[in-house]
Amino acid sequence: MASITVRNLDDSVKDLLRQLAAQNGVSMEEQLRLMIRDGVTGRLPAAGSSQPQPVATATRAPGDASGTLAGKRVLLIISGGIAAYKSLDLIRRLRERGTAVRCVMTAAAQEFVTALSVGALSADHVFSDLFDRQDEHDIGHIRLSREADLIVVAPATADLMAKAANGLANDLASTVLLATDKPVLMAPAMNPRMWNHKATRRNRATLEKDGIALVGPNSGEMAESGEAGAGRMAEPLEIVAAIEALLAPGPKPLAGRRIIVTSGPTHEPIDPVRYIANRSSGKQGHAIAAALARLGADVRLVSGPVSIADPEGVSTVHVERAEEMRDVVEQLLPADAAIFVAAVADWRTASSAGEKIKKQAGNGPPSLKMVENPDILAGIGHHRQRPYLVIGFAAETENLLANAQAKLAKKGADFIVANDVSHAGGVMGGDRNRVRIVAKSGVEDWPDMTKEDVAARLAELVAERLKSVEV
Ligand SMILES: Cc1cc2nc3c(=O)[nH]c(=O)nc-3n(C[C@H](O)[C@H](O)[C@H](O)COP(=O)(O)O)c2cc1C
Repeated sequence: MASITVRNLDDSVKDLLRQLAAQNGVSMEEQLRLMIRDGVTGRLPAAGSSQPQPVATATRAPGDASGTLAGKRVLLIISGGIAAYKSLDLIRRLRERGTAVRCVMTAAAQEFVTALSVGALSADHVFSDLFDRQDEHDIGHIRLSREADLIVVAPATADLMAKAANGLANDLASTVLLATDKPVLMAPAMNPRMWNHKATRRNRATLEKDGIALVGPNSGEMAESGEAGAGRMAEPLEIVAAIEALLAPGPKPLAGRRIIVTSGPTHEPIDPVRYIANRSSGKQGHAIAAALARLGADVRLVSGPVSIADPEGVSTVHVERAEEMRDVVEQLLPADAAIFVAAVADWRTASSAGEKIKKQAGNGPPSLKMVENPDILAGIGHHRQRPYLVIGFAAETENLLANAQAKLAKKGADFIVANDVSHAGGVMGGDRNRVRIVAKSGVEDWPDMTKEDVAARLAELVAERLKSVEV
């Protein structure tokens, strides 16, 4: 029996085949088989018709809720890091959304995942060799770099970032990156020490200056046992969201709005080495800042000491103490809205010792005299330059609603977002939150959801409230 090899077909036939296969969520080989079958039964698109028609029998994979990525073409470059396994899921997530994914793998990437898996999931030929005569003849590195709406590098190794930052082109991946005129998104993934190395920082800054978008990395446990810190590749769905933001930017109802957000804990010094702190991680405040920025706001984030990365698209000022936070927030006025998510220490020591307090036999522990910290929310809620919208967070462990309602009136806030931070709930430092929005008009209960979802919903609420206010 005769057999047909897709690679030996004419370019125009391959293009048509590729588009149809992507549309229908099947491999090119399967698409060809369906076309031959449909040709026999008279269902092929008419000769000369430029628009490929979906094959009636093929089903579209689930998950394309918004459809914003349907029909888009992504060139995914996979470089050699442990996180390469997550790229397989990324391919699947993109194809679920009707996106055609063509992949380039570096030699190192093939040590972590096989071209066979990548090809099977992307339903396309996988490119890896700059000097493969057949590939160069069929597609060519220049076409490869231009025939996509977006180039995504995931994972982006320290090595490939360095090459791209310096314009090196000594393999297919780096040559494609140098030859492209399309937007590029990188999802860095590496050991925290590599990520924080001065050379990587320099390369990162150069790439950003060159207009390359970055998503992540996140902080947390690394795939290598015993390693933690910033360097973990963003999750596939975060990468999909970043792709969506680049390829199909949503509405920007907060464009032209300046919004102040505070986040994280404060550290109140006792002496040069000791301080009073709390368990706030900054995850909720940072997520809110990022969500507002995605809706187009000019976000000024004032962050206490946290171990998570500054959110993308946000201008972040780092502070330590409550008084510093208050000063920076006041300097950032005027603003259209201010959201006070930071867990600001209520008290600080009356004075911080200039030298480390020594433990001395017979003296017992030192007694700390505490004084009240400035109430930043109340200060801004009653400020002569009060933003149009002032939102405070009330982290409570008991009498949640009564405390939030009392706070609303006392602090001059429009809303209080009340969350139960008692230890059992795991809100402080955790990834989920269950909040109630307390306003004069009543209380709205939001279900338990991720902090990102709380942030997105709150950003929508802010946009709604600012809609009627002149920019
Ligand atoms: C087990 C193992 C895991 C690695 N993980 C990473 C990683 O996560 N990120 C990274 O930048 N490099 C990592 N490397 C180093 C890269 O594989 C190496 O720098 C390689 O040259 C990168 O090549 P590429 O950029 O062409 O893919 C790892 C190496 C090994 C042996």
